[in-house]
Formats: sequence, structure tokens, C-alpha cells
Amino acid sequence: MVIAIDGPAGSGKSTIAEMLAQNLELDGGGRFIYINSGNLYRALTLACLKDGVDIQNEEAVVSLAQSVNLDYKNGAVFLNGKNVDALLRSDEIDNAVSRVSANVPVRRIVNDIIRRIAKNNNVVVEGRDMTTVVFPDARARFYLDASADARARRRFDQGVSELNIEKIRSSIEERDRLDRDKPEGSLKIADGVTYIDTSYLTIKQVYEKLEQIIRLKG
Ligand code: DC
Repeated sequence: MVIAIDGPAGSGKSTIAEMLAQNLELDGGGRFIYINSGNLYRALTLACLKDGVDIQNEEAVVSLAQSVNLDYKNGAVFLNGKNVDALLRSDEIDNAVSRVSANVPVRRIVNDIIRRIAKNNNVVVEGRDMTTVVFPDARARFYLDASADARARRRFDQGVSELNIEKIRSSIEERDRLDRDKPEGSLKIADGVTYIDTSYLTIKQVYEKLEQIIRLKG
């Protein structure tokens, strides 16, 4: 079973997807794996920055993406065999990752990895094009949204960014623009998804809404 969640940066989808994967159990005891697709783009961005690959050079980025070993195991991203989860949330990666994720052949590589994992497992997968391109037929599909103000506040409260709240908000708005203007896999509200604005909801309230709908869908 596939549960797919899309939405802009800071809409709460990673937290919710991870909670769902931890707590949901299918009749018969089947469990879910959580896949954060944005982390795969972030890991490729990290590889570019480490190897000095110019992210504007699309061909160089594709050839690097083809040469690295990228995998998702136990909820963490492995780049060439190393767990890189702790390195993926820097301001440097935040600024560069939209460019890497706009690269169409790179999207195919990432989507193949995700589909391969979903083939043999129940998954809760989140990103920007999970409900549209990668799993348009997922059993449950959600779009989580929130205002730019609410999202900037959440990012600021995480305490991982060195920017002030206004700068975080501008960076979020710039990323929204890049996400929506991508040639492929752009952020859209797909027909048939359940749309939830999380701006004024607690994590618990959002979680309960999704869990209830997933149970209804079996
Ligand atoms: O969810 P996130 O902010 O960690 O995602 C990082 C970047 O990757 C962001 O610019 C959006 C992009 N992304 C994408 O294009 N498609 C996805 N399925 C997931 C993320």
C-alpha cells in the first residue's frame, strides 16, 4: 500500500509522514516504511557540493547522480554507503537543492529509487510530485499546505538555520516559486487529493485527520 503526501517546504509533511509510518499497521501486521523524497535530492546536492560539481551544469550533475550509490535504508539516506541524514539540512543545501531537483534526468533517477522501494514494501512517501507523477494511483493521497508565515516560523523554531525569520520566509517563497516552475514534477494540487491547510493546526490534529482518512480507505 502506498500513502502519498505532497506539499510545500514546511507544511509539516515530513513529521506527519514519519509518524504515520511509525504508528500505522495493516490488518495482518504489515508495517510501513517512511520515504522522504526531498532527502534524496538533498543527498545528491551534498554530493555535488562535496565533489565541486557546478549545480548549474546539468550534464555534470546527471553524470554524478549516475555514478553515486544512493539508497534509502531504515528511514535514512545512504550516499556511497554512508548515512548522510545529519548533513542534509544546511542553509547551503537549502539554497542549492531546488536547482538539482529541477534537473529532469535526476528526477528520473530519484523516482526509480522510490518506486523500487515501494514495489516490495508498504510506504508512506512525501515530496512534491508523489501524488501526481510517481504514485498517481496511491491508495491515499494528501496535499498539506500552510501559509509562508507559518512555515517560516516552524523552520525558525527548529533552530537549524542561521538566518532570521524574515530571511527564512524569503528563502521559502523563493523555493516555492522554483518548486512550482519546475519543467517536470512541479508542485501541484492533484485532482482527487485530500487538501489540508495546516497553518493553524497542531501536529496531533493533522495526524488524526490523516489517520482517520487512511483508515476509511482501508
Ligand atoms: O522537502 P524538501 O524541502 O526537503 O525538498 C528539497 C528540495 O527537493 C525542494 O527544493 C523540493 C525538491 N523536491 C522535489 O522537487 N520533488 C520531490 N518529490 C521532493 C522534493
